Amino acid sequence: MKKKWNILLSDLDYDEDELKAVNQVLDSRWLTMSERVEEFEQRISTTFGINEVVMLSSGTAALHLALRACGCSPHDEVIVPALSFVATANVVLYCRATPVFADICSLQEPTISPQAIQRLITERTRAVIVMHYAGFSCQMAEIIDIIKHAEQKYSRKIWLIEDSAHAIGGKYTDEQWLGCIGDIGCFSFFSNKNLPTGEGGMLVTNNPEIAHTARLLRSHALTRSTIQHHYYGQTDYDVIELGYNYRPTEITAALALSQLKKLNHNNQYRAELTAYYRQLLQHHPDLLIPFPQPNKTGTPAFHIFPVLFPDEKTAKGVRDFLHKQGIQTSHHYRPIPDFTYYRKRFGDQSQDLPITYEYSRRELTLPLHPLLSKEDVACVVQTITEALSKTK
Ligand SMILES: Cc1ncc(COP(=O)(O)O)c(C=O)c1O
Repeated sequence: MKKKWNILLSDLDYDEDELKAVNQVLDSRWLTMSERVEEFEQRISTTFGINEVVMLSSGTAALHLALRACGCSPHDEVIVPALSFVATANVVLYCRATPVFADICSLQEPTISPQAIQRLITERTRAVIVMHYAGFSCQMAEIIDIIKHAEQKYSRKIWLIEDSAHAIGGKYTDEQWLGCIGDIGCFSFFSNKNLPTGEGGMLVTNNPEIAHTARLLRSHALTRSTIQHHYYGQTDYDVIELGYNYRPTEITAALALSQLKKLNHNNQYRAELTAYYRQLLQHHPDLLIPFPQPNKTGTPAFHIFPVLFPDEKTAKGVRDFLHKQGIQTSHHYRPIPDFTYYRKRFGDQSQDLPITYEYSRRELTLPLHPLLSKEDVACVVQTITEALSKTK
C-alpha cells in the first residue's frame, strides 16, 4: 500500500509558472526537442559561463554520451566513486569498458579520494568520473593535478568527467560552477534533484568536439535535426554513427526554464535548512554530520542531508522509527560494487573500499527540499532524539 508521509524526503517547488509553461508547450502542438530546449541550453551557457550545453533525456544519458564522446571503448578502464548512484558505473559498462571503484576521502568528506585515484590510474585509464556528493565539491585541484601527472607519464589524454547530478547551482569558486571544472559536466533533472523536471539531464563542456558528438548521438546520429524536419520539411537524412534516442522534450525544457529561475533562491534555502539541522543536531555528539565546514570549497548545492549514526543497527532503528512517525528518509548509497549484479561480475570489493562500506552502513538521509519548514526540521530532529533514547 502507498504510504502517506507527514514529512517528505523531497518535494517540488512547482506553481502557476510551471503550469503556464507546460500549457504553452501543449498549445504550440509540438512536443519534442525544439526552441525551448535551445533556449534552456542558451540560458545555462550564459549563466554558467560555459560554451556548450547539450540538453538530454536524463543524467544517465549525459554520462553515457560523455564517455562515448571521449572515445571510451572495451579495452578501457574508467575510475568511478564506489559511493554513487549505480548509473555512474553502469555507463562504463554500456561502453563495454571496466569500472574501477575508488574509495571516498573519509567519513567526514565522502567524495572520491584523490589518493585512491592516484593509486588506481593505469595506462588503460580513459576517464575519471568524480561525483559531487550531496552537492559538495570533490577535491578538484588535487584530482586535476594527479590526472595531469598521469597524462605525462602515459602520454595520453585522461578525461575528467564531473557527475554533477547532486550539484546544480553549486560553485567551486566565485567564478567556477560545479560541473564546469573538468572536461565534461553531467547533470540530472530527475524528480528529487535541485532542478527537477521528472526526467531530463544535460552535458556541459568547453570542448566543441565533445559537444558535437553528444549532439549527434542524442538523436541517432542523424544528419538532420527534428527541427529541420518539422519546421523546414527536410526529409532526407543519413546515419553516420551508432546513436541513441536521448532527446529531451519541450515539456522538460519548459519546466527546466521555470525551475532555473528558482534555483538560486531554493539552493540558498537548502543551505539555511542544513545550517538549522546542524545547529539542532550538535546536541547529539555521537552523530557524525559529513562536511563539517560546508563552505570549505565554494558554495555547495546542498542537495541532500546525510547523517551517520554510530553503527548500522542504530541507523536502521532510527530509520524504522522515523518511518513509523511518517517521516520519509533515504540511503545514499549502498556501494555500487555491493549490488548483486556487480558482485557477480567483479567479486567482493569490500576490503578495498573500507571507508565507503562503513559510510554506507551508518548513513541515513534526512528530508531536505524547498517546501520543508524549519518546524519540520525541528520535528525530524526531535523524532531522532526519541528514536535514539529507545535504541539505548
Ligand atoms: C549521482 C547520480 N548520478 C547519476 C544519476 C542519473 O541521473 P538520471 O536519473 O537523470 O538518469 C543520478 C540520478 O538519480 C545520480 O544521483
